[in-house]
Amino acid sequence: MKRIVVLASGRGSNFLAVASAIERGEISGRCIRLIVDRPGTLAAVRAEEQKIPVSLLHYSDFSTKADYEKALSDLLHMLNPDLIVLAGYMRILGLGIIREYSGKIINIHPSLLPAFPGLNAHGQAIAYGVRVSGCTVHFVDEGTDTGPIILQRCVSVAEDDDEVTLADKILVEEHIAFPMAIALFCQNRLKVFGRKVILLPQSSEHNPHEGH
Ligand code: GRF
Repeated sequence: MKRIVVLASGRGSNFLAVASAIERGEISGRCIRLIVDRPGTLAAVRAEEQKIPVSLLHYSDFSTKADYEKALSDLLHMLNPDLIVLAGYMRILGLGIIREYSGKIINIHPSLLPAFPGLNAHGQAIAYGVRVSGCTVHFVDEGTDTGPIILQRCVSVAEDDDEVTLADKILVEEHIAFPMAIALFCQNRLKVFGRKVILLPQSSEHNPHEGH
């Protein structure tokens, strides 16, 4: 069972999708902590409902970004996660944490990367006039939304879509893609070679229908 720590800043619908997949036994891991960077998040309410412990590291309580990152790093050391999941975490992680947990941090972004990285991906997609968009689950590297891609799912963009309707469509796919990618990680089926993530076949250990 992998030890999963989730970082979130807001609504927490992806966190809930992951926690629910764990609850249903679809991910061989357990969510040992939700960390939020601000008070009053819906994500924290959802964690409490799921009986998952929550840590609040209120960014504004720290005088510098370095102090905040140090507290986050200390907390992560204490938790000793196998996987860190960024589920709507609205900060750029410090380089120290990214390097220490390289290959163990996964993010979800609401566009088909490398198109529309950074903030307001939905607005960027609408403004550009694309006919398809979607979501990307990727490992986190030192850039913004640049890490090796694990999974992508697409949606079509209608002429009357706006940022809000597109976000709603993409969110449905996010809630499928994120638990799926995390399940693969927890089965040790993701191998990173440069920019590419290779999906290893399911071993008999993970497939109850194979090899008796
Ligand atoms: C999602 O659109 C995700 O792709 C982006 O932030 C949003 C988080 O939504 N990184 P939620 O908090 O999981 O509902």
